[in-house]
Amino acid sequence: EAEWALKPTNVIPRGKPFLVCVLDGWGENKIKDEYNAVSSTPTPCYDALSAVQGRFRTVKAHGPAVGLPTWDDMGNSEVGHNALGSGQLIDQGARLVDRAIETEAMFEGDGFKHIAQAFDANTLHVITLLSDGGVHSRLNQSQALVLGAAKRGAKKIRLHVLLDGRDVPDGTSINFLEEANKTMEELKAMGCDACIASGGGRMHITMDRYEAEWEMVKRGYETHILGKAPNTFTDAVEGVKTLRSQQDPKPDDQYVPAFVIVDGEGAPVGKVVDGDAVVLANFRADRMCEMSKALEYEDFSSFEREEWPKMHFAGLMQYDGDLGLPKKTLVDAPSIQRTCSEFLAKNGLRTFACSETQKFGHVTFFWNGNRSGYFDEKLETYVEIPSDVGITFDVAPNMKAEEICAAGVEALKSGKFDHVRINFANPDMVGHTGNLKATKQAVALCDAKVQELVDTVNELGGIYLITADHGNADDMVQRNKKTKEPAKNPETGENLALTSHTLAPVPVLIGGSGLPEGIKFKEGLEDAGLANVTGTIMNLMGYETPEGWEESLI
Ligand code: 3PG
Ligand code: CO
Repeated sequence: EAEWALKPTNVIPRGKPFLVCVLDGWGENKIKDEYNAVSSTPTPCYDALSAVQGRFRTVKAHGPAVGLPTWDDMGNSEVGHNALGSGQLIDQGARLVDRAIETEAMFEGDGFKHIAQAFDANTLHVITLLSDGGVHSRLNQSQALVLGAAKRGAKKIRLHVLLDGRDVPDGTSINFLEEANKTMEELKAMGCDACIASGGGRMHITMDRYEAEWEMVKRGYETHILGKAPNTFTDAVEGVKTLRSQQDPKPDDQYVPAFVIVDGEGAPVGKVVDGDAVVLANFRADRMCEMSKALEYEDFSSFEREEWPKMHFAGLMQYDGDLGLPKKTLVDAPSIQRTCSEFLAKNGLRTFACSETQKFGHVTFFWNGNRSGYFDEKLETYVEIPSDVGITFDVAPNMKAEEICAAGVEALKSGKFDHVRINFANPDMVGHTGNLKATKQAVALCDAKVQELVDTVNELGGIYLITADHGNADDMVQRNKKTKEPAKNPETGENLALTSHTLAPVPVLIGGSGLPEGIKFKEGLEDAGLANVTGTIMNLMGYETPEGWEESLI
């Protein structure tokens, strides 16, 4: 198959040990004050590597550079790893759904016809992350979906909400619930019986990923589908306010306990019954796969479903290309072809990929264009180090960086692989807790582990590329838009934590004792983004950039 054959370059030797290392959530932010957990933490390794002339630069990791609608859209791990793994600019879920709403294609396809079967006599249930974070979902899209469904005959709609506080500031769940309630009023004005039916924090129910904790999904299933949760309220806004203030410590939006909305008699208003339609209205894949299986698979054993109503189920998008999951979707997912991993496999090159559970799918599933399998199992070794479960990562900010590093070192030394790929999860996962001190610890350990890997590559005469997928740890405080000073909580006077990703560009560092001396980044390419990194990786492994990929940085 000629179209897959990689062409050798004559500049960089092939067959050297090669490492690509993703520092998840490590941005190179212009603002370098005490709230930048990257620049304010001693990082001797990063400092030394980034001081090497011509072997350090940054690339864009947000907005249109990674297929997102606008330059206000921060990057995230899905789009970042899709770009890094494919070398191509791909229109991503957020943008595809916007377009499908604009053109009304969303309401004309198979998926919509499937759910519309419930409109006459049954209920349409929409389960979504309620925020405008734009990482997993966007409020205006779920609003368009329910309004469009009502216009097309849906008579009863129930909204099941996941509270964010992770892609948007903590505490904003109340505003989003109020916004959603306004939409419910609009629906009622159209003659549709509509209300919020259940909910909970996104890190407590429903949105687990990579099978880290099925218990979360079970809680979500019971809450949204069976109408059973430890807390019941008659009003969602009052309910969430109560849950956020009642407990000690007070839960952030992400961790709000599960609740169900009940009527005057105490019966759940949104239990799913035979014949109902259920839509998962997030576009991003990782945190929707498990719930999709729980809703769709007849043969399902990850937890016991007390009841499994016969429903018309659809996802906003397809979440797993390999599994064809879910079967029915409202919008076509991006089709990502000619990925880095497929090229390596087709050319007989051996890959080792490793991270801990929370990011394992990032360097495999996302890297491979949202495919859960292997291209050639004989050539690919994927190692998952189990992440801690049931804790917030600020209490264990090292996460599994030690173990990931050790696995990477071993893989490099083994001589069994042509391409060793790892991801350090902790700058991002700890960054999402908003805890500055813990995030600094994550950054410090990550830096030390990179040093160990770089030392190993140098000992072996190898080559490395170190990069990141998006910013996060590089800004831990919400800021005044103009002055950039920390924004304060008006009541307590304390700084408001920033739990989300940032818009910062990310570093690309190349080197290794096997890299010929003259190899440097090209001048120019000011607008380069993450997709330009992949061709660079191929070059560093001794091959030309495949056709159709973005230009290499060297
Ligand atoms: C999450 O899913 O944890 C956040 O919404 C985004 O983080 P990630 O893109 O780094 O996974
Ligand atoms: Co993140």
